[in-house]
Amino acid sequence: PAPGWSIDADVVVVGSGIAGLTAALRCEAAGLSTVVVTKARLDDGSTRWAQGGIAAALGEGDSPEQHLDDTLVAGAGLCDTEAVRILVTEGPDAVRRLIATGARFDESAEGGLALTREGGHHRRRIAHAGGDATGAEVSRALVEAVRARGLRTVENALVLDLLTDADGRTAGVTLHVMGEGQHDGVGAVHAPAVVLATGGMGQVFSATTNPAVSTGDGVALALRAGAEVSDLEFVQFHPTVLFLGPEAEGQQPLVSEAVRGEGAHLVDADGVRFMLGQHELAELAPRDVVAKGILRRMRQQDAEHMYLDARHFGADMWEQRFPTILAACRAHGIDPVREPIPVAPAAHYASGGVRTDSHGRTTVPGLYACGEVACTGVHGANRLASNSLLEGLVYAERIAADIAAARAAEGLHARVPEPVPYPQTPAHPLLAPEARFAIQRIMTHGAGVLRSADSLRTAAEQLQQLHSEARDALDENGKTAEPGVDTWETTNLMCVARVLVAAALMREETRGCHWREDLPERDDTAWRRHIVVRLNPDRS
Ligand code: SIN
Repeated sequence: PAPGWSIDADVVVVGSGIAGLTAALRCEAAGLSTVVVTKARLDDGSTRWAQGGIAAALGEGDSPEQHLDDTLVAGAGLCDTEAVRILVTEGPDAVRRLIATGARFDESAEGGLALTREGGHHRRRIAHAGGDATGAEVSRALVEAVRARGLRTVENALVLDLLTDADGRTAGVTLHVMGEGQHDGVGAVHAPAVVLATGGMGQVFSATTNPAVSTGDGVALALRAGAEVSDLEFVQFHPTVLFLGPEAEGQQPLVSEAVRGEGAHLVDADGVRFMLGQHELAELAPRDVVAKGILRRMRQQDAEHMYLDARHFGADMWEQRFPTILAACRAHGIDPVREPIPVAPAAHYASGGVRTDSHGRTTVPGLYACGEVACTGVHGANRLASNSLLEGLVYAERIAADIAAARAAEGLHARVPEPVPYPQTPAHPLLAPEARFAIQRIMTHGAGVLRSADSLRTAAEQLQQLHSEARDALDENGKTAEPGVDTWETTNLMCVARVLVAAALMREETRGCHWREDLPERDDTAWRRHIVVRLNPDRS
């Protein structure tokens, strides 16, 4: 059916984390008519959960050049140096503008920004707010600014597909909206510029630090629209996630790197600091090194988790510097003031995503991507801690500037959208919501922190089986699952999971956060390159 309602705008921003709301605010400030659509409430995305902070060369003695060096080392040979240079040079002013927008960061006793360290950073350069509630403060400030400026927003709006005109240029998006009055049900925002800022895909695994909304919707939309997607095999597993048992599923509490940045130690059950001697930075080595160190020790000792010991902080420091983590631990019966915290790695961040240039443009004209959904090239094979909020900020501003420049150069013209297949195509049959748990288990066992050709082939076969069952049902009955938010999310998870597994199987080496047990060495001769995927719309 045709969409039941529509809105016209110059720009539709899909997503409401730091990337989406910054892009929207800057577009609106440039006089572009802007609509923000978001899947849940405005503050429900990943940004709100960010703890450690936002990295930028703001401290005395630090420089963008040193931030660049640390980012390139973490990225394990696959960062786009120019993209990183933009990030680190434009970063400090972008943070100052975020402060001018209303975000309040913690200050040092001397009155400047209080800066901490995290894994892979040789300097104190992480600005934080509310101790360990940086994302919540950033989100609060941006949501308030969006409301104060009266931007048009549609909440509870799951994006479905990109609309394009007969020449393949962006014409808007279709959406499924729940309970938003005049914009209820399936509708569309018509706009010649679409900014995808939909966040990550952590829910493709059983245990993740990501909120429930992180189901890869933007990457799946881009794949269906024929955009290029890159580096999906590089899923970052955060080393220190509160361990709540081997069967724990869904969003898990993070224990920020900043806890290690302030001097916490990783220890095994005997209290031995096993990261000493593994890397010059020990517990503050880049994230992949620490995650591997933890997993190795877990294997050697047949343990389900390791421990983070920060009892020496004392109660006052815990309460003032890490109130969120303290509360989360205590809510699960662990008191970090008196006992070490059980931790294990869990899925945290998609370093890859929809491929963009340095202005956030994807390979589909008029479609932009920003934040975790994007692959700008700044993260390479492994994102440096606290570069993600910064990337969302810097590249959102560049996108807004690019759209404003395009309007100044040639005007922004509404496009006539071609009809999109609805609700499904043979290439992307809708999956029943129950398939989500099967996908998550397949991915956790086959494509998790440790992978091999065998585990990945098994995962690929199991995913293909689920996909084929849905496609056969479509062929036989013309119908699979009932369209709805759960169904579409599950279908999106399947889409990104299949591409992720294919890329991980193809990359026959270990690099950054892609750890192949069967191929443990980095291979710079064959693999210092990216895996770029573009789906053929007719093939399943
Ligand atoms: C953390 O606080 O450890 C998360 C930082 C990040 O993912 O960049």
